Amino acid sequence: MKVLVFSSKDFEIPYLEYANNKKHKLFFIKEALSSKTAMKAVGYDAISIFSSDEACFVTIEKLRDFGVKYITLRSVGYDNVNIKTATKLKIRVANVPGYSPNAIAEHAVGLLLALNRKLIESNLRVKHFNFNLNNLIGFDLNAKTVGIIGTGKIGAVMTKIMHGFGCCVLGYDIEQNAELVTNYKLRYTTLKELCALADVISIHVPLNTDTHQLINKELISEMKQGVILINTARGAVIKTEDVLEGLKNGKIGALGIDVYEKEKGVFFSDHSLNIPDDNLLIALNARPNVLITGHHAFLTDEALTNIAETTIYNLDCWEAGKETENELTKKESIA
Ligand code: NAI
Repeated sequence: MKVLVFSSKDFEIPYLEYANNKKHKLFFIKEALSSKTAMKAVGYDAISIFSSDEACFVTIEKLRDFGVKYITLRSVGYDNVNIKTATKLKIRVANVPGYSPNAIAEHAVGLLLALNRKLIESNLRVKHFNFNLNNLIGFDLNAKTVGIIGTGKIGAVMTKIMHGFGCCVLGYDIEQNAELVTNYKLRYTTLKELCALADVISIHVPLNTDTHQLINKELISEMKQGVILINTARGAVIKTEDVLEGLKNGKIGALGIDVYEKEKGVFFSDHSLNIPDDNLLIALNARPNVLITGHHAFLTDEALTNIAETTIYNLDCWEAGKETENELTKKESIA
């Protein structure tokens, strides 16, 4: 199959080439998919995209007109793809579900520890041979309450890790995972109760119409004073303006994010010589109690290997006329 890989990053190309083993003809381009760049897919059977690509209604219509039949995502989240349109236009879409929930959960824990124990500030001082400890006080995680919003694959690993730290874990999800209750004493609550009781809140829900700006000023007002908020899911699950306000008035003690509401066009490339004209990002970045990473929670050797293998597996299935269990578009509506 001839495949155009949009938004390809130098670090992932060797993983994809190794997993492909010359089976499919892969062509890599750095540009992101959009209605403007869709025409680059002329002559390709399939495209592969990432979370920064935009497969909206118009883009998918164009892809169909250009003869593209398959879209394989190199991500778990598919909020950037109009699945309904793809299904209607008979373009098959598959993702990589659960390529390494450990990678994301461990990154969330990294953000939490770095913020709580002020590791960045501490290290900056030490780099200047300043060993003063003033204003570096954190708190023990042991016996604290951690609220997990979304107890799917990543939230489940987060629950396990936080339980290991000796935390009391609360969960909020539209579907309950009984194993987490039995094995890690997780207690499911309402979102309001979770907010009222949690010292730390970690977000692991997908971005959809129900979770868009779920964390807003009304919900923040229910939270404990000084709560630590961690978001490794999708930027738009939190209303960033409201969170900044919460940071300013002290309601939110610290914020750790790997994803940002307006990350499109900013994350994944170097803007050090051309700082983005985004006052919200600048204001967040300036705060000592905010730690931002550029959507790299997935960046482990294991995760990249799994992403590449599953991407090639999805293409293999389609080429062989088989169904992949990772398909997001409904098979029956395509037949
Ligand atoms: P998952 O599908 O296993 O779990 C998501 C959970 O959220 C499910 O239990 C589901 O029932 C729950 N949920 C869905 N809508 C909800 C709602 N309205 N209210 C409450 N709960 C709801 O997904 P997984 O693998 O745990 O990934 C979660 C998200 O993490 C992905 O959708 C993606 O956006 C993000 N992610 C971020 C990465 C990064 O590099 N920062 C990498 C991988 C995933």
